[in-house]
Amino acid sequence: MHNYGIKVATAEDLGDARSVMLDALYRDFGTGYVPQWHDDVIDLTGHYLAPRRHTLVVAIDRRDGTVAGTAALDSRGPREPGWLAQRYPSGATAQVRRVYVRPEHRRRGLARAMVAELLAFAQADGGYHSIYLHAYRHSPGALDLWESLGEVVWEENGIVHFELRDPVVDSGRHEVMPAEFGSHPRDGSRSGS
Ligand SMILES: CC(C)(COP(=O)(O)OP(=O)(O)OC[C@H]1O[C@@H](n2cnc3c(N)ncnc32)[C@H](O)[C@@H]1OP(=O)(O)O)[C@@H](O)C(=O)NCCC(=O)NCCS
Repeated sequence: MHNYGIKVATAEDLGDARSVMLDALYRDFGTGYVPQWHDDVIDLTGHYLAPRRHTLVVAIDRRDGTVAGTAALDSRGPREPGWLAQRYPSGATAQVRRVYVRPEHRRRGLARAMVAELLAFAQADGGYHSIYLHAYRHSPGALDLWESLGEVVWEENGIVHFELRDPVVDSGRHEVMPAEFGSHPRDGSRSGS
């Protein structure tokens, strides 16, 4: 069993994180890089590190310090259709994005742990009223993951839209990370190391 650390990405992680994302786009989704959908992957700093209300979390393989998985959050709601954009307006909606784990690191709880960090981040922000994401029905493991964390709100053309439950609000607790992963966002340190 490997050891992993979950942390907020710093500049030194971005090359690796981008590589994880691009591999998922080509190998898991089969779309490859499409500029109008994936421009955030190129400018990770501008999209996730610089804006105060956005974040990029990575799972680090402690054996070699490489990035095993990524998970991001921003304040953009869905653009269409209109009713969905109204229900999840930008600014009040945290959108979970780029939750990708390298195949050799899957089923070890990394996605769940990274998403827990994102939910804690959204909760700490205080301005998000809901947490939204969309996923491709054919993505390996994706629907099982999101169904365990939230509810389907709509599906069309193989794209499934979810609203995630907020475990902090739902349970009244403030601890959402499994202890073995350790955490704390925004300090830039590798947790538990
Ligand atoms: C979806 C993905 C991110 C899951 O990452 P992961 O680190 O393996 O997920 P976890 O180990 O945290 O699993 C959490 C839960 O998700 C579900 N799950 C994840 N992968 C699954 C699979 N292949 N089959 C069935 N259930 C799965 C399970 O409920 C699992 O809980 P359990 O292990 O206690 O049963 C990963 O498979 C992946 O990168 N897929 C390709 C990219 C993608 O589709 N990303 C989602 C974009 S929206």
